Amino acid sequence: MTADRRGPGGAKMDPDRKRFSRLTAAALRPLVITGAGVSAESGVPTFRGDDGLWRSHRAETLATPRAFAADPGLVWQWYDWRRSRVAPARPNPAHRWITNYLAERPHGLLVTQNVDGLHRLSGLPDPVEIHGSLWTVRCTVCGAEAEDRRVPLPIPPRCAGCGGLLRPGVVWFGEPLPAAALERAVTAAAVADLVLVVGTSAVVYPVAGLPALARDAPLVEINPEPTPLSPGAMFAVRARAGEFLGPLC
Ligand code: OAD
Repeated sequence: MTADRRGPGGAKMDPDRKRFSRLTAAALRPLVITGAGVSAESGVPTFRGDDGLWRSHRAETLATPRAFAADPGLVWQWYDWRRSRVAPARPNPAHRWITNYLAERPHGLLVTQNVDGLHRLSGLPDPVEIHGSLWTVRCTVCGAEAEDRRVPLPIPPRCAGCGGLLRPGVVWFGEPLPAAALERAVTAAAVADLVLVVGTSAVVYPVAGLPALARDAPLVEINPEPTPLSPGAMFAVRARAGEFLGPLC
């Protein structure tokens, strides 16, 4: 009689979870990359899904320095809406699985495109939040940066120090990524022995280009839909991340 591979609850594991567990367990230096899909089951809208439009605006037209210069009030209303959706959100089993997984792998790294802070909230101490944070504001005049968790915000919000216009502490299209965060991500990709990509459409660079830097590392993807990374994946799990990872937590 052979021993069954059983999940944490003792239930017999299905073949996909079994294969996923085998691949991820073998890695010592995994690079985990997440996008909006990892937070979808926490109630946070994605950018390009059916719920991605806000008042008929697409993210690419609002998340730009040009849109902010033209109409800071409109851009702030969008961020205020996003903040109000994220404020009550809690980490889901996908965030929790990633946190536990990386807790056991001190040489692994999480790079998230998400600005919702849910990976931190799930207990991950030092994620690379490569697109910044919804909860940070930066003064366009004096450059002061601060945490600001008010929901709703007075629009447009003003700097407590100099009265200048505040902007969200996030990276917009056309802006460079924070150098230190990018450096950590690129270094982790270069040495990774597994790349796990969860819940991103993989169309926004440079993050979408990180898996290519991890030359020999197998790529595993969790996404209900195929992405440009799927053809290069050793294993593509077509499922919702929280649903799939929940039983493995
Ligand atoms: P997108 O909205 O482009 O993609 C979300 C992905 O998550 C899609 O591929 C969905 O199929 C997938 N998805 C949906 N529900 C899921 C679930 N429950 N489990 C797993 N996957 C699921 O979001 P991002 O790829 O994160 O940048 O977008 C990248 C960047 O574009 C964002 O960081 C933001 C945006 O504009 C800036 O603002 C600079």
